[in-house]
Amino acid sequence: MSAVTIIDVSPRDGLQNDPKWTSTEDKVALIEKLVRSGIKKVEATSFVHPKKVPQMADAKELLESIAHFDGIEAIALIPNMKGYERARGHRLSEVNYVSAATETFNEKNIGMSISQNMSQFKELVKEAKKDGIKTCFSVAVSFGCPYEGNVKEDYVIEIVQQALEAGADRIGIADTIGIAIPNQVEQLMAKVLETAGETPVAIHLHDTRGLGLSNAYMAYRTGIRIFETSASGIGGCPFAPGAAGNLATEDLCYLFERMKVQTGIHFNHLLEAADFAASLSTKTPLGRIRHVEKIREKGNAV
Ligand code: COA
Ligand code: ZN
Repeated sequence: MSAVTIIDVSPRDGLQNDPKWTSTEDKVALIEKLVRSGIKKVEATSFVHPKKVPQMADAKELLESIAHFDGIEAIALIPNMKGYERARGHRLSEVNYVSAATETFNEKNIGMSISQNMSQFKELVKEAKKDGIKTCFSVAVSFGCPYEGNVKEDYVIEIVQQALEAGADRIGIADTIGIAIPNQVEQLMAKVLETAGETPVAIHLHDTRGLGLSNAYMAYRTGIRIFETSASGIGGCPFAPGAAGNLATEDLCYLFERMKVQTGIHFNHLLEAADFAASLSTKTPLGRIRHVEKIREKGNAV
């Protein structure tokens, strides 16, 4: 079974929507626990407007505090060129540039049209290449939009094509509101993989309707090897009404361990990180496996 990479997004997607301020110190402690569990890639923060997303106002301080962490490949979400200007200069392996599959979501989330977004991305890729920072182009609401409803696959593919032409190093396909079903995942991800060729493709999953794991499994079967999830399943987008937490990292890790798919993660340490993530959130985290006594006693998934 070929190995997978799990990118934990709990410090960003997990916390961004929580009304209770999480101190920089606690965010750093969460990242430290994630890294200790063997997760290398962590979406640590975002460079967005602090008034729109107050929880991410400490992006600079946070990245300075984790810069010395061994083995971490930190990722920051950015919505525009201004975000990139703020992000560059930090120790980042990648910036995750967020766009959307519908005009309404894009406008509400980042105040731009999709074509304006793409023009900024082209500029940004040139700068990032000079800076030695990789770029991921993420397409939010790829499986359904809270404002426009159904999303056409061909439209997602067109956006992906443009992002690839612009020079994206990775493509992210996001189920921002957790509305995807497995056969939709199979169809869209197969097309995205075909379009992307050698460029890595990730799926970003939310578990709003309890289908996160089924969708992840289907994505794996379709050939996806990069997954974006959040420890304990905390999370949600402030600009996507009704969206609940991400698929829990430890639930996905459990599935893969049982399937003998390598994750590079120490499950028992991941449970500690997930407990800590849950303790930072005011919401009830969606993850299940943390609550299974027998698994906790054993400390490993198999
Ligand atoms: N970080 C901080 N400030 C930013 C910024 C960024 N990335 N981009 C723009 N700004 C500032 C501008 O400098 C300007 O400041 P001023 O009023 O002091 O001059 C102000 O924001 C308005 O700029 P404008 O270009 O008109 O942006 P906007 O008001 O349309 O906002 C975003 C654009 C992207 C900054 C804002 O919509 C945002 O932060 N969205 C959050 C997206 C998000 O985090 N979604 C969840 C994850 S997907
Ligand atoms: Zn998300």
